[in-house]
Order: sequence, then structure tokens, then C-alpha cells
Amino acid sequence: MHFAVMAAEAIEFLAVRPEGVYLDATAGLGGHTREIAQRLTTGKVIANDRDPESLEMARRNTAEWADRICYHQGAFSQIAEAAPACGAGKLDGLLADLGVSRYQLTEPARGFSFMAEGPLDMRMDQTTGMTAADLVNQYAEKALADLIFQLGEERRARKIARAIVRARPIRSTLHLAGVVERAVPRTNRLHPATRTFMALRMLVNDEQGELDRLLATGPELLASGGRMVVISFMSLEDRKVKERFRGLAREGRAVILTKHPAVPTEYEKGLNPASRSAKLRALEMK
Ligand SMILES: C[S@@+](CC[C@H](N)C(=O)[O-])C[C@H]1O[C@@H](n2cnc3c(N)ncnc32)[C@H](O)[C@@H]1O
Repeated sequence: MHFAVMAAEAIEFLAVRPEGVYLDATAGLGGHTREIAQRLTTGKVIANDRDPESLEMARRNTAEWADRICYHQGAFSQIAEAAPACGAGKLDGLLADLGVSRYQLTEPARGFSFMAEGPLDMRMDQTTGMTAADLVNQYAEKALADLIFQLGEERRARKIARAIVRARPIRSTLHLAGVVERAVPRTNRLHPATRTFMALRMLVNDEQGELDRLLATGPELLASGGRMVVISFMSLEDRKVKERFRGLAREGRAVILTKHPAVPTEYEKGLNPASRSAKLRALEMK
């Protein structure tokens, strides 16, 4: 069973209209796309993802409503191309549900998980770019330490970076997880490699840069009255969304719909623990 995080809130803030045109920038497994598509008559939803495998799963999971969905593969940095490629103009709504999907996290072959043996890949789009293995085996120790400290918010980054450099070449997810675990013993419920894996994933996919580009371009794609909804799971990301939305409001170009971010209900958190840290922000263009 797949849960789209804060689906009811996302639909409410998007104010989905039956004849509207929507862009789901992070189709993933198609959960939000399906919620939008179900509410359309003559409208359209563009299901976008940079991960071709995920887009394929979204396609399968939304097949029933395929007549109103246009599937598009691309990263946030190419998001301006999605609507024209689908024959659409300005958007009535744009949704982004950031991060990785449960499929990406749990499929060993994708290399995101420190719980299962797999190649150290971590690329959302496996057709391009450097892998996590390239990174851990080639980066200088100091660069690795900075990366793990800044993106992973890991205090023991220096120790971890030193251990990684000594253990090279690192060949697999479990190899890396073991190296980290031996360098920094477990202090709480979190696996010691959690933050290191997160930092690598964020750099491999340039998640910060991608979010910057989505926040720069996204609002420009919206019609007057169009809405942008972003669900983030990390404070670094939520801060970027908040600042960009505030900037647009200050310029008089948009109205912020969420003075404080909306968060999942206790019920949803109980049902889907992965939703715990979600924060949703929404704005409407003037
Ligand atoms: C949390 S999942 C989305 C789940 C989806 N909302 C659902 O209901 O199934 C995030 C998705 O965003 C995609 N993604 C992350 N960063 C991206 C980027 N920069 N450009 C395009 N897609 C991205 C990932 O490949 C992943 O499939």
C-alpha cells in the first residue's frame, strides 16, 4: 500500500478544479498524481519525475486515469520544458513532494539503503552523473568531511571521512555502512550511517541546487491565481521554500497561504511514520 504524504492537504491547497492544468513535479509512485487526476474532467495533470523507473511506476499506478495525464521525464532544472512538451501553457497548480520515494529507498539495486547490499549508486536518474561510489572513492578527506557535516548535519563528520578514506576502495552500500558504523558507534536509535547516506544522496543528485532552480522557475510557470505547493522533509529545504515564498510575497507577486507550514495529522503519522517530518507550504500567484 502506498501513501501519498499529506495528500488531502496538498489537494486542498492546490484547489484542484476539474478543468485545471497541474504539474506534479515529483510523480514518484503516482500517489499525488492520482489524487489530482481523479478530480479532473477536461483538465490535465503532467506527471514529472527525473527517475525513469519511478515514472514508469507512476504510469502503471495511474493507468486508470491516463487519458488526463501526460508523463514527462526531467529534473527540476528542466521543469520549464514539461508543460510545453505536454502541449500545455500556464499552470493552475504545481506540486513538489521532495526527496526520495519509498521505492528508491528500499530497492537495493538503487544503492540508497544502508540496510541492504547493493551498488553505491544513489542517482535518481541512473543515465547520467556521478555515483556515490565515485564520490566516496575520489573526494579529498576534507571535502568529504565538509559534505557530511553540512548536508548530513552530522557532528562526527571528520571521523567518518577519515575512516572512509582509509577503507578505500569502498565497493557497496553495506561496505560503506560498516565502515561508518565502526568509526562512530551508535548513540541513539538512528543507524550511525543515516546522515552520511543522506549527505551523499543529496550531493549525488544536487538536491539543494535542484530545489533552488525549482523555486526560481516554478512560480514563473503559474497563471495568475495559480498555486504552488511544496512538501519538504528537511529543515534545510523548508527554509529555502519559506524564504523564496516570502520574497515573492514581499515583491507583491504572490500571497502566502500557509503562515506556518501545515504538518501531517497524528492519524497520518501513525499510519505512515515516514510522513513524520513533512512540512507543507503553499502560495498563490497574483
Ligand atoms: C517523495 S517522492 C514523491 C512521491 C509521490 N508524490 C507519490 O505520491 O508517489 C519524490 C520523487 O521526486 C523525484 N525527484 C527528486 N528530486 C527531483 C528533481 N530534482 N527533479 C525531478 N524529480 C525529482 C524522485 O525521483 C522521487 O520519485
